[in-house]
Amino acid sequence: MSVLVTGGAGYIGSHTVVELLNTGNDVIVVDNFSNSNPESLFRISEITGKDFKVYNLSILDREGLEKIFLDNNIQAVIHFAGLKAVGESVEQPLKYYINNISGTLILCEVMQKYEVKKLVFSSSATVYGLPKALPISEDFPLNATNPYGRSKLIVEEILEDLFNSDKEWSISILRYFNPIGAHESGKIGEDPIGVPNNLLPFITKVAAGELKELKVFGGDYPTKDGTGVRDYIHVVDLAMGHIKALEKILFTKGVHIYNLGTGSGYSVLQIIASFEKTCGKTIPYTIGERRPGDVSACYANPLKAKSELNWSTMRGIEEMCADSWRWQLNSKKDYKKIKTIFAEMENPYLLKSKRDFLL
Ligand code: NAD
Ligand code: WQD
Repeated sequence: MSVLVTGGAGYIGSHTVVELLNTGNDVIVVDNFSNSNPESLFRISEITGKDFKVYNLSILDREGLEKIFLDNNIQAVIHFAGLKAVGESVEQPLKYYINNISGTLILCEVMQKYEVKKLVFSSSATVYGLPKALPISEDFPLNATNPYGRSKLIVEEILEDLFNSDKEWSISILRYFNPIGAHESGKIGEDPIGVPNNLLPFITKVAAGELKELKVFGGDYPTKDGTGVRDYIHVVDLAMGHIKALEKILFTKGVHIYNLGTGSGYSVLQIIASFEKTCGKTIPYTIGERRPGDVSACYANPLKAKSELNWSTMRGIEEMCADSWRWQLNSKKDYKKIKTIFAEMENPYLLKSKRDFLL
């Protein structure tokens, strides 16, 4: 199948492109590299030995997007492109609403025009807000607490409306819990710009000596050790969930919503201990104030995805930490220099599995 992947150079997108190529799909990536580096795409090509087409374009560019649909026989879209920093979304809500909501509207309009009505959308467990109970099922009340979360919630509702207006659509909404880890090759992984907001990228930078110490946000939650509990999921397991969701929408019309999580919660202190074991170093930390907006615990009931998609996670917390650490140690070198080279190349660009010509 020929699949358009928006945001395919990003953290989850790049791992999903690997699995799409490994399962024999043709991939076309569209990304504006606002939060990623084209180097990840070359690494995908190295990992898979496969070539694919890349468009350096914003999904807000309707004309450019239409050209992609005209020039390629696209059968389905996996839509990762979006901004995801909760704090930034509070400071710049319009930027988030324009990029995440308007971007999705333009994408869906173009898909409708070119009769491509199969879509997998990246949503988030953040749409549950403060959950009414644990573990969290898909039918729980929804209540986003910040502009980022609201952008996801609004898009979910838009997609429901779209299907109600035209029953030919097949849409899978995937609510991710906390993706961490990296590809086992150590060639691709999460590459946040600046000081990371999320726990695992922060810990890896402390372990590598790039940051001094971790501040644990709150030690007085009603959890096993007082620190926040989350459902950490290996990014490759998450990527596999997209392959299953794609298979599902090939044959079933409608809007299908799935939690993608492991079903297990780990506290911040448990994650620190697991990471220390993996890297053989002590992670210095202090316990500070709670971070505003954080919930004490959040983990999935993943049974719907298991029964309907035949998907469940395979990788445990040790593997998640080991793969994050390998990525931190091995493969960030030279990651930045490719961006300027790429900006000057033709659009679309055919990514070749052999890239000697570039270097
Ligand atoms: P990421 O920032 O690494 O990847 C997003 C990609 O989209 C980047 O490559 C970015 O350059 C691109 N992009 C952003 N706006 C674009 C636009 N207008 N046009 C074209 N490309 C654009 O983020 P990620 O962690 O890979 O997240 C992927 C998706 O999953 C996002 O929609 C995010 O909101 C969602 N999500 C992420 C998490 C998480 O913790 N990482 C959790 C739940 C949901
Ligand atoms: C995990 C735990 C923190 C950093 C966020 C988004 C959510 C989703 C996933 C996109 C919490 C604690 C963290 C630190 C800490 N993204 N922590 N010190 O907040 O569960 O979810 O990413 O959809 O929308 O909100 O993830 O990694 O930031 O935090 O103690 O420096 O680690 O309090 O308990 P979170 P996180």
